[in-house]
Amino acid sequence: MQRMRIGVLVSGGGTNLQAILDGVTSGDLAVTVACVVSNRKEAYALKRAEKSGVEAYYIGKGNYVDRLSRDRALLGLLKSKQVDYIVLAGYLDILSPEIVTEFENRILNIHPSLIPKYCGKGYFGLKVHEAVIENGDSKTGVTVHYVDSGIDTGAIIRQVQIAVKEGDTPELLSKRVLEVEHEVLVSVLKEIADRFGGGEHAKCID
Ligand code: GRF
Repeated sequence: MQRMRIGVLVSGGGTNLQAILDGVTSGDLAVTVACVVSNRKEAYALKRAEKSGVEAYYIGKGNYVDRLSRDRALLGLLKSKQVDYIVLAGYLDILSPEIVTEFENRILNIHPSLIPKYCGKGYFGLKVHEAVIENGDSKTGVTVHYVDSGIDTGAIIRQVQIAVKEGDTPELLSKRVLEVEHEVLVSVLKEIADRFGGGEHAKCID
């Protein structure tokens, strides 16, 4: 059976990427990480990929000056690596309409809130958790969703709630939410990989 090939897009520390890589190494997650792409050259996520022996690429303003050439390079790379699914794991950029169309229903994003709360433009990093605390919410959470042409608007695949505790700071909350993100993302990917293996994409290699 051919394994599902994923391309992971990142911009930062890459702890979600690490959770995926660890899942693959332990044998828990039967996918092939075909490539990791960052739009930020200094993203630590790129180092994590290299350490795991996964192909890591930088496609950003530093090596592709205009948006069109960046978008083309990214789509070209994902296609050349025969990526089946794209995983946005802390990717702080907008995908081109061509990529969204080409990979329709095959792009996942993870977001550290209970969408539709605290999502869309401007809600990234600690800003999400600051808003949760400022508003006195008693719960927050994690959402994994498909990516469509909007920002954090695609169909929700899974949400997990997390209690906001007395004395929580945005930093404390972020840490707790991130730990849950790792579990949820790997778990959703496992489900999709299982379906992929037994579904319409299944191929015999012998
Ligand atoms: C995570 O909180 C994710 O939900 C959001 O960006 C953050 C990325 O963290 N989209 P990391 O780079 O995986 O550590």
